[in-house]
Amino acid sequence: MEKIFDTKILSNEKVTEGIFRLELDAPQLAEMSNPGQFVEVKISDELTLRRPLGIASTKDNRVRIFYRVIGKGTKFLSEKKSGENLDILGPLGNGFDMNVDGKILLVGGGMGLAPLLSVAEKFDNAEILMGGKTKSELLFWYREFRPLVRNFFVTTDDGTLGRKGFVTSLLPAVLEVEKYSAVYACGPEVMMRGTAFETLARDIPCQVSFERRMACGLGACLGCSIDTTKGRKKVCKDGPVFDAREIFDL
Ligand SMILES: Cc1cc2nc3c(=O)[nH]c(=O)nc-3n(C[C@H](O)[C@H](O)[C@H](O)COP(=O)(O)OP(=O)(O)OC[C@H]3O[C@@H](n4cnc5c(N)ncnc54)[C@H](O)[C@@H]3O)c2cc1C
Ligand code: FES
Repeated sequence: MEKIFDTKILSNEKVTEGIFRLELDAPQLAEMSNPGQFVEVKISDELTLRRPLGIASTKDNRVRIFYRVIGKGTKFLSEKKSGENLDILGPLGNGFDMNVDGKILLVGGGMGLAPLLSVAEKFDNAEILMGGKTKSELLFWYREFRPLVRNFFVTTDDGTLGRKGFVTSLLPAVLEVEKYSAVYACGPEVMMRGTAFETLARDIPCQVSFERRMACGLGACLGCSIDTTKGRKKVCKDGPVFDAREIFDL
């Protein structure tokens, strides 16, 4: 059950171009959270709506969030200092299914890598296929995942790190060589669709984590509804993680 937490900011630092890591002293929230869940952050009185952000780590009873500065809300957030308090509603949403035997493959691109970090932290048999525009963008994520996963596959759009191309161009080869019990994807929708296509074609279960603009975050306003093969669903309450077959009708 979600709650409002009055948390203390332990650190709020830029980790690479345009991306910040926010670390909160929030032991109860950390304990209550499952990989893939998110929080709604009240950033300032000036902004009526809270901002949804994924929980990337709950290690050492601290909640870590990685966010990209996009607009007013995330800009204000990036100016907050350690020692300040932050009003957080969470944990929200369903999260990934962690009841899996065998190996799982995480497939992520851009900020979609943030929620996958929370899976890698809790699951000791995960491998990752990660993609980004350039080496400089991916190096930071590589360092974050390195202690947590068994194996890496990397693509960059410009070929400066790993294989040149998108994650979906390398995925078929990865799925041919390794045997996975499940694939979890988060990133641009076109990437998740391609991942689901390759994965489901090999009868491997696939879960995808979705983003929609949100208001309440609690299933009350219907603002985040999407069409699925099982009817209208709310991304904040029924998701953000869905079985790929429900979303893509493949
Ligand atoms: C479940 C979920 C988890 C997310 N996790 C992360 C994360 O871990 N790291 C991260 O960097 N970003 C994440 N996002 C996206 C993040 O919520 C937006 O980038 C952020 O709300 C932008 O706010 P803003 O005020 O800076 O931008 P503005 O563009 O000024 O925002 C205007 C309004 O649009 C909403 N909005 C804008 N972009 C998005 C978006 N992509 N998704 C949802 N609402 C949006 C804002 O919440 C706000 O209400 C997540 C979104 C969802 C739905
Ligand atoms: S954001 Fe209100 S129902 Fe999902």
